[in-house]
Amino acid sequence: MSKSRVLTGITTTGTPHLGNYVGAIRPAVADSQNEDIDSFFFLADYHALIKCQDPTLVHQSAREIAATWLALGLDTDKSTFYRQSDVPEVMELNWILSCVCAKGLMNRAHAYKAAVQDNEEKGEDQDYAITMGLFAYPVLMAADILTFNAEKVPVGRDQIQHIEMARDMAQRFNHLYGETFALPEAVVDDNVAVLKGLDGRKMSKSYGNTIPLFLPEKKLQKHINKIKTNLLEPGEPKDPDDSTVFQIWKAFASPADTEDMRRRFAEGIAWGQAKKDLFGLVNEQIKDARQRYEEILDSGSYLDEELRKGAEKARAEAAPLLDKARKAVGLSRFS
Ligand code: TRP
Repeated sequence: MSKSRVLTGITTTGTPHLGNYVGAIRPAVADSQNEDIDSFFFLADYHALIKCQDPTLVHQSAREIAATWLALGLDTDKSTFYRQSDVPEVMELNWILSCVCAKGLMNRAHAYKAAVQDNEEKGEDQDYAITMGLFAYPVLMAADILTFNAEKVPVGRDQIQHIEMARDMAQRFNHLYGETFALPEAVVDDNVAVLKGLDGRKMSKSYGNTIPLFLPEKKLQKHINKIKTNLLEPGEPKDPDDSTVFQIWKAFASPADTEDMRRRFAEGIAWGQAKKDLFGLVNEQIKDARQRYEEILDSGSYLDEELRKGAEKARAEAAPLLDKARKAVGLSRFS
């Protein structure tokens, strides 16, 4: 049996936080170390241009995110780790797919529809501040996936529609030009925790309630101390299932330690103590990676070398398929 091919992209904007770590990075790093999975992870830096037009920030985010993944143990021998913009085949396929993708399909994309609706509510022209990049975002995402014939695409719920669109484009291409692309499927893991943030809502950059992953120790402690709790006093029993502190604890602790904390909540652990223990647990698990992260950022050449190696592997996979796609549409040599 051939290995299943798994691929996922990381948009390179913002600073990775505990929610990203638990929800996406940790499971991906585990996949990268699994011999039975042929995994592809890439920095979606062309996607970043849709959201951010500050070149310094675009550059800095990609660098930090690459360093984060490597510091956390991504296995770049067993998996393929590359930067989207280092693989020109993706951009070629992007155009080919644009020519089979119905405009109407893009009109129905949630992110685009939300932007239009937002404009209408504000009384703006419906196209206000909407670039072609935002509109055609799902085509680029389809190109990311189909360039590697990926079958399984681990994503958050908000991305399912995009994977379905990629599947549509693959089907349409295959129908027009003959069997070329595998049909990708979204994989949404319901067992992976969606962490809550400081204010108790989902931890997300857009809510400004995150705990960044690689804060210096003191700052990590400070952030954890800011997690919202209720006013129950030490000694009063507390409901773990209603607590962000407990929820984050559970995402980092073993099942036995989780049960133990549950008991301590029932016994009325003080919020200050619970937060102190949470800091200890999280810090213990990430402190070596934080150290490696700093070292990687200090030595730029390690990152460049890893990404060069990744691009080479990725392009070796992409080139034959792109050749096939080019020929299929009628773009081939004359002699
Ligand atoms: N759009 C995805 C996100 O915001 C990132 C991404 C880009 C991606 N290309 C992809 C994910 C291809 C999976 C497959 O999360």
